[in-house]
Amino acid sequence: MVYIGGMSRLDELKAFLRFPSVSCQKAHDDDTAGCADWLVAKLSSMGFDAAAHKTGRHPIVVARGSEVPGKPRLLIYGHYDVMPVDPIEAWESDPFEAEVRDGRIYARGASDDKGEIMAHILAAEELLREDGALPVNITFLFEGEEEMGSRSLHDFLPGHRGLLACDVIVVSDTGMAAPDVPTFSYGLKGLACCEVEVSGPAMDLHSGMFGGAVANPITALCEMIATCRDSGGHVLIEGFYDGVDDIASWERVMWSRVPGMDDASLARLTGVSALRPEEGYTGAECIYARPTFELNGISGGYEGDGSKTVIPTRARAKISCRLVPGQDPERVNRLIREHFERVAPRGVTVKVTPQHGGEAYVCDPHSPFGKAAQQALEETFGNAPVLVREGGSIPVIAEISKVLGRDALLLGLDLPDARIHSPNENMRLEIFEKGIEMSKNLLRRLGEIH
Ligand code: BES
Ligand code: MN
Ligand code: MN
Repeated sequence: MVYIGGMSRLDELKAFLRFPSVSCQKAHDDDTAGCADWLVAKLSSMGFDAAAHKTGRHPIVVARGSEVPGKPRLLIYGHYDVMPVDPIEAWESDPFEAEVRDGRIYARGASDDKGEIMAHILAAEELLREDGALPVNITFLFEGEEEMGSRSLHDFLPGHRGLLACDVIVVSDTGMAAPDVPTFSYGLKGLACCEVEVSGPAMDLHSGMFGGAVANPITALCEMIATCRDSGGHVLIEGFYDGVDDIASWERVMWSRVPGMDDASLARLTGVSALRPEEGYTGAECIYARPTFELNGISGGYEGDGSKTVIPTRARAKISCRLVPGQDPERVNRLIREHFERVAPRGVTVKVTPQHGGEAYVCDPHSPFGKAAQQALEETFGNAPVLVREGGSIPVIAEISKVLGRDALLLGLDLPDARIHSPNENMRLEIFEKGIEMSKNLLRRLGEIH
């Protein structure tokens, strides 16, 4: 165990995990600000020039290490905000009082993204202590709104190009295939979220007095949703696939070999009797590189005990599409709106309200920085990394990459069983330790590039 200033690596992580920095819940705004201040104090104690920049909502922490002449500059991105904890009763221990059980640390944020951030911070701190200097220039960029769409960072970027200037972006906020399978991601999905509201009668109606004569908004919504995809999983919204390239054959071959990502293993992992991927594609291909149309919630009418014979006045659905390179989130939301307006049956009105989104991201995994990162992964884990494109999204990454004109290296540590966004989120201690070693190796390797 490595101790610095009396705190073990694990103690540092526990202190960070203690803040209930739930970004989307106003009641936690002070906790979220406190978490940003804690990061500033931590990074300042390491000699970094650190500040929490005020925004319209949660602070953005930027910290620059002292200049290392002639070495590349890394922008290490992460988010200190976390998802809500509910359902709280499903947690086996307090989500904000981290507990170690069977080799894992359990807390909200343990994997997404505090454990991953802490691995990079501790790597820098230990290298500074061991070698007296860092092998590269580092700027840390930690935002507090990733889980709610990164609005403030989006607004912050254009005015802070100088502060954030770098040669490459480093992100540990993505998945890892298995504990002994290091994972290098060269892409992220984009996202387009919207809400659909279908309104019918002016008030709830007795379903016998009026049923059969008046359109039921829930039925109408279901009919409309059913026109969005065919039975093979192909999205039927006109123009949805415009600009989408087919998956390259080298990617298909490569992804067929990713451990744990075959259809049978995915079915086992998710507890379904069989996968149902888009026709013509494997589950892994759909996750990594096919755009999706998903319903995340649907509501309306009576959902309490017993039955209540009623035609409800309205019904709602929350929709999100995962996007791939070539798709524009605003355009996809517009296409969805036009589709729903076109297929709305007589007797109801439909309103589609766009929510947050962001573009997909992809880069060349074989750039000099990409190769150095893969070397660092192999050195640390003893196995060559698998190369994947993530099914998940960090919508602001495409934006940061575009504004700064640099690639992002995605070196995630979130295992399939880390339960991110779910009760009992955890990180294996072994992965936390390896993450610190990986970051040290990464900083050294990237420092060798001119
Ligand atoms: N860290 C995740 C993204 C992720 C997780 C990518 C695992 C790949 C593998 C991130 O915090 C996240 O949850 N993103 C959200 C989007 C956000 C706008 C709510 C997502 O992907 O749903
Ligand atoms: Mn995350
Ligand atoms: Mn998340």
